[in-house]
Amino acid sequence: MPRPTFHFRCIECGFVTLSAAQDFRCAECGNLLEITDPGWKSHSLGAAGLKSIWRERRSSNLPLDLSGVWRFRELLPAPASERHVITLREGNTPLYELPQSSRSTGVLRLYAKHQGMNPTGSFKDAGMTVAATFARQAGYSWVACASTGNTSASMAAYAARGGMRSLVLVPEGKISWSKLSQALDYGALTCQLRTDFDGCLRLLQELVRRAPVYQLNSINPFRLEGQKTLALELLEQLDWQPPDHIIVPGGNLGNSSAIGKALLEMRDLGLIPHLPKLSVIQAGGANALVRTLREAGGKHLVSVQAETRATAIRIGNPASWQKAVNVIRSTGGACEQVSELEIAQAKAEIGAEGIGCEPASAVTLAGLKKLLQQGFVKPDETVVLVLTGNLLKDPDFTMEFHRGDLFKGTIHERESSSLNPFRHTPIVLDANLDAVIQTLEQAEKSSPIT
Ligand code: F0G
Repeated sequence: MPRPTFHFRCIECGFVTLSAAQDFRCAECGNLLEITDPGWKSHSLGAAGLKSIWRERRSSNLPLDLSGVWRFRELLPAPASERHVITLREGNTPLYELPQSSRSTGVLRLYAKHQGMNPTGSFKDAGMTVAATFARQAGYSWVACASTGNTSASMAAYAARGGMRSLVLVPEGKISWSKLSQALDYGALTCQLRTDFDGCLRLLQELVRRAPVYQLNSINPFRLEGQKTLALELLEQLDWQPPDHIIVPGGNLGNSSAIGKALLEMRDLGLIPHLPKLSVIQAGGANALVRTLREAGGKHLVSVQAETRATAIRIGNPASWQKAVNVIRSTGGACEQVSELEIAQAKAEIGAEGIGCEPASAVTLAGLKKLLQQGFVKPDETVVLVLTGNLLKDPDFTMEFHRGDLFKGTIHERESSSLNPFRHTPIVLDANLDAVIQTLEQAEKSSPIT
């Protein structure tokens, strides 16, 4: 992998260093570091050469080329040797059309980039392959993260593949069983802490100063480098014609930061002629970025006590808020919030497309509807929703929704009857042919296929 070396640069004061401390914070001002590559702007291949080499690799069977992340390695930090790379053939995720949502919203060119089709079922794998690789290269035997579930599943898998041990800190009772069970199966030491995600992350920050563990949260800038490839792959799938809008869920705000960084780099390299607008959508109950922009003009973080059934984004004190503010501003995007009912409806609508996603991903469709109402998105524009997690990540949410129990005993109970047309309740019958045929006929009468 012949490539120039990379640097760490502080996002606040611009301080540049060749090595980062364990908390990935600037030694001068304490803000977050990002990775920069002083060499890539003058890349000898040029935009056309890069596009062609990335496309060529799609017909190669080399492990690095089969990864939808390392296929774009010219824009990634280079490990000392290809042998260090830990890959599960991540990336390579589909870009789907959404015909039903397209009809209901009036947006004719509406796509979903489905990151839930990654090896552990979420977008985290694209970043984890890079960060886990650098953890192993640095000689760590332990990696650790705080998580709402997907990071821990992904980290545990990559640690296992790379022969490292993993420590997972998750909020007790606030992550789905699917995600927790993944971490257990991949062999992580899993601690369910009696706190929320923000409490887990705070504790991890202290832990990395005291114990020889390598942190794999998205504060780790190698994660964001890997997650950049979502945008590279998306643009390649669109034949390098930028969409007008990319809409992404916001939690700890690493993913929006990574996608934004990729877009800016692609523009600077001449890979795309102009920037799509990158918009971030949060759950109303976990709306720290929305409030940071509205109430503090993006100058300081307004933390919140987070509460939402979209547990993946149940985060009140997002670490990468400043990076996210920067990319929203540089791309001219928006930041919105959606309600619990809007999330549940959007998730059911994405399911009805035969695709499905976890609740946190559905904020994108719910947010699109808001941005259309506000006139920020126009129906004749091209829109890509980033679906971050697989439908199977949170079966409890899905079952409760279809059984009609999701909002029972909550302040939304009365209003939630508006969601009845989207529910598909399971029916228990005797094993009797007539009963099944009768049910079929009733279903045909109540909702004929149009
Ligand atoms: N969607 C899903 C499915 C997620 O798991 C997350 C974050 C997000 C969106 C938000 O992305 O944090 O980069 O803004 N999950 C983390 C975790 C926090 O621990 O799995 P973000």
